[in-house]
Amino acid sequence: MLEENRGSYISGERIAAEASVSRAAVWKSIRALQGTGVPIDAVPNKGYALAADSDIVSETALRRILNGSDAPFRFDLHRSVSSTNELAKRAGDLGEAEGLVIVAEEQTAGKGRLNRRFHSPGGSGIYLSILLRPKIQAQDALMITTAAAVAAAEAIGEVTQRDARIKWVNDIFCHGGKCGGILTEASISMENGTIDYAVMGIGMNIREPEGGFPPEIRGIAAAILEPGVIIPDVRCRLIAAFLRRFWEIYRHLPEKHHLNGYRERSMLIGEQVMVISGNSERPAVVLGIDGDCRLVVRWEDGAEAALSTGEVSVRKTEGKYGID
Ligand code: BTN
Repeated sequence: MLEENRGSYISGERIAAEASVSRAAVWKSIRALQGTGVPIDAVPNKGYALAADSDIVSETALRRILNGSDAPFRFDLHRSVSSTNELAKRAGDLGEAEGLVIVAEEQTAGKGRLNRRFHSPGGSGIYLSILLRPKIQAQDALMITTAAAVAAAEAIGEVTQRDARIKWVNDIFCHGGKCGGILTEASISMENGTIDYAVMGIGMNIREPEGGFPPEIRGIAAAILEPGVIIPDVRCRLIAAFLRRFWEIYRHLPEKHHLNGYRERSMLIGEQVMVISGNSERPAVVLGIDGDCRLVVRWEDGAEAALSTGEVSVRKTEGKYGID
């Protein structure tokens, strides 16, 4: 009720009557919500109001914003989890249908690619995973990551008007720093090489966390919104915009139409890079991204190569981009 009447007061009496509970029970619930950080104003003789600029991610708010979308999303919202990808994989193992979206306020063991940690503090970011059962071959699983990258960059533009670029293969960049990352994990059928289920997890730094980013990612990480900028309901709106756009791409995934949008937003094309493999480093220029999402580069001797993400990954090094 508070969500549907943001910014307006509703009396405890009315809430109690609609929920068929006592006013004392309403008060107790409100106290509990306030205790978890939900900005509810309580005024004697007026009632309770959820702050109009509240940035709480609730299922009601998500449904309201997603209204009209035919995407089969079911939400599972958590305050704190180890990793939304882990929860979604558990659901996949248990046979849960496609479309389950697990969202967390914070992750205590957020995972990035290559066993890296993904810093996931409460209140400042978006951390979510979608359980998918795509009808594609395992070798095309990267299409899910690239679809999510395009959807995220577009959603950031739509909701915040900030320019978001994609750094091959799974990073989202804003203001020259990494503001988001995608980790897709899949369970493969060994019999026919198809995907039993895939979990696409995405994390976005909306605001710089209190106390700043930890030293190990300072200088690499960035927030989408500058300090002090408030966009009401920004996390909910971003999640909804992302989900809507992701689903539009995902439903036509085998056609790979989104690869053009991926290339247009790609920040490496035309850039000089350093390709690092093991202990060796080799300069190259990035020519493009091919239909299998490999990075096409030209070495200094003029020879060309298509690098796949399994062999190399991209990281920013002292203002240049290296590939290790
Ligand atoms: C990366 O930058 O290497 C990928 C980061 C992916 C982070 C997201 S946050 C939601 C989901 N749960 C996780 O544990 N990881 C992904």
